[in-house]
Order: sequence, then structure tokens, then C-alpha cells
Amino acid sequence: MFLSKEEEKILNGEYGEVKQLAMKLLVKLGEKFKAEKLISISSVQIAGISYKTIGDPGLEFIESLVNSGAKVCVPAFMNPAGMDLDNWKELGIKEEFAEKQKRIVEALKKAGVIPASTCTPYLCGLLPAKDEHIAWSESSAVIFANSVIGALTNREGGPSALASAIIGKTPYYGFHIKENRKPKLKVEFLGKIKDECDMYALAYCIAKQSKDIPYIKGVNVHDSDLLKGFGATLAAYNSLAIFHMENITPEAKEFCNGNIDFQDKIKIDEKDLEKAKKEMGEEGEEADVIMIGCPHTSAKEIAMINEMIGERKLRKEMWIFTSKPIKVLIERSNIAKELERKNVRIIADTCPVVAPIEDLGIKCVVTNSGKATFYLPSACKAKVIFMPIREVIERFAI
Ligand code: F3S
Repeated sequence: MFLSKEEEKILNGEYGEVKQLAMKLLVKLGEKFKAEKLISISSVQIAGISYKTIGDPGLEFIESLVNSGAKVCVPAFMNPAGMDLDNWKELGIKEEFAEKQKRIVEALKKAGVIPASTCTPYLCGLLPAKDEHIAWSESSAVIFANSVIGALTNREGGPSALASAIIGKTPYYGFHIKENRKPKLKVEFLGKIKDECDMYALAYCIAKQSKDIPYIKGVNVHDSDLLKGFGATLAAYNSLAIFHMENITPEAKEFCNGNIDFQDKIKIDEKDLEKAKKEMGEEGEEADVIMIGCPHTSAKEIAMINEMIGERKLRKEMWIFTSKPIKVLIERSNIAKELERKNVRIIADTCPVVAPIEDLGIKCVVTNSGKATFYLPSACKAKVIFMPIREVIERFAI
């Protein structure tokens, strides 16, 4: 891989051990994927910061890197941590877990990482432009950035994202190259999307049939929150990092003005969606808690939930997961107080999957999240009842 003189110097240790280590990692990654060079990036999003997922080895790695002087040189945001960093006691998080989680966050803060602790950084200040090169790592953030924003990123691992933040560069391969972003699979949706569960069931149907980049026709919605949940579901069920949707996503036209001869084509209709929804969730009337916010909710979604509940209250507690900046915004309005009265709790900094919910005695969850239907059973051993938010509220409001 070609390295500039300056990059060579970093690799040779002339700027210290930490930068040398970060550069070594990027060069190794670049060589593995046959990248021709490194390119500059404008921002980083770092996953793998929950103590639940990285444990003591991850904590020790981050602390030792930061104690050796690691500093980020481009804006870098953290992914969700394993707990609400301010209100962890209320959630029943154990002292030992909290202490170690705080150490991870403090170390990253010392390195200059912004503790937004979210998988939706684009909703709270980290919004790249189309064709901007970035190095993000959380799967739902990556697919949203590539597909809905039209920014360019591979799906980074936690360490490679951190290395990119320290150097300000990433290897030029994969989705940084326009050619590799072309769709290969044509998906025709024959039907109408009625709610978010239909949208995520469509993602599930596509994910189950192919790992190729889809070009999706026939979807009748223009809503960034639905696209956020759609991408998250697609990424969860088959690791895709990009999709294109006719008349909706920015690159759809670029790639599909009649010049792509799709080898593979599939059709999905409303019957397929109904079948998918049955497979994604289980039957059941009751649950321990309602969880909304995977990916993290926008302020608009929280306001809509408050509106839908209206003057009623929920007989089952609802947890809404979001970023701290969105929570602060909601707290400045009357909505947070109203939701509290309605048995709804807003939880910041963490998420249904990376918080240790299995240790909190939660065995069954109601959610409208397609991604959570994949991860809650596997990562948290929780049964999932999958239904749209409007139905959730009608079932549990009194
Ligand atoms: Fe975000 Fe956690 Fe879901 S990182 S997409 S809320 S699994």
C-alpha cells in the first residue's frame, strides 16, 4: 500500500508509540483488503465501548492506549455504553459494572472522544454530507450513513475506528470506492407499507434472501426514522452496510438510470411481510417491559409517542432509549414530565442490547424494533413480542 512520507514517519515511530500502533493497525487492514492508499476522513464513530461487550480486556486496552497519550484528531463520537451514565442506579445496574463502564468512558473522553454515546450520531451533531469519507463502526449508523446520507464508510471494528480517529485516515477500499457501492439485486416491493413493522419486515425478507446490495423499488414512505430502523434491521439480519431505494436514497438515481442489468431480482409482497413478522417475534400478551429506541429514537419519535398516549397512561413501563443530547432536549420541553406521569422512562447513553438487561430479570420484551428482534433473543436471552408502536400503546394504555 502506498504511504506518504509523513505516513511512513508515523509508521516508523517518529511521532510516538501510540500513533505508530494506530498506523500499524490501519496498514495491516489496508493490506488485507488490498487498499492502494490511506485517505482522510472527517469523522469517526466508535463502537465496542459497553463493558458488557468488551469486558476487562477491552477496558484495559483502551486505558493503556489513553495512558500512553492517545488523542483523536477528528470529531469522534462514542456508541452506546452499557448503562445510562447518570441514572444507572435507577436501572438496577451493579456497582462493579458501573465503575468499569465509567472507566471506559472516562478514558475515551480523555482521548477527546465526544460522549454522545449513541448509534444515531447524525441526530445530534455528527452529520456528514453526501460523498464525505468517514470511519464509523456501529452497523445501523454505518448503513444509515452510506444509504440515507450518501456518505462513504466501511463498517469499522472498534479498534480500527479508534485507530482512524487517532490518525485521521482510513484505508481506501470497500465502500469508499463508488464502484463497490453499486446495487446487484433488484427488489420489487408489491404492496403498501402501513407501519414501521411492515418496513422492518421488508428488510428482514430482503436480508433472508440475499447478501447482495439491494436496489429497492415500490416503497411508498419518505421518513428518516423508518429508514433508520429499516437499515438497522437489514444490517442485523445479514450484515449489509448499504442499500438503495428508488426515489428515496441519494445514490439510487446515480446507479440506476437504466444502465444496470440486474442478474438477481426478487419480488416481495404483503403476504411475505405478514409471514416475516410472525417469524421475527413471538406471540404473547404480557411482557416485563416495553422497549423502544433501537436504533436510538429521534426527538420526533418521542414527541409522537407522547401524543399517541394522550391523556392515558401505560399499565406496563415503557423504556425509550436515546442519546443524551436528545434526552436533554426533551427535558427542556414539557414532554419528559408528561411521559413520566404516563409510565414512560427516557434512558440515555445505552441501548436494549448492550445494557446487561438479562441481569435485571427481564425475560420478555415488547418492541417495535426490527433489529431488537434479532439481538434481544441472542444477546440478552429475552423473548420478543414485535408490534408497531400504535398497537403497543393501544394494548397497554389505560
Ligand atoms: Fe443502537 Fe443498540 Fe440498537 S447500538 S441500533 S440501540 S442494538
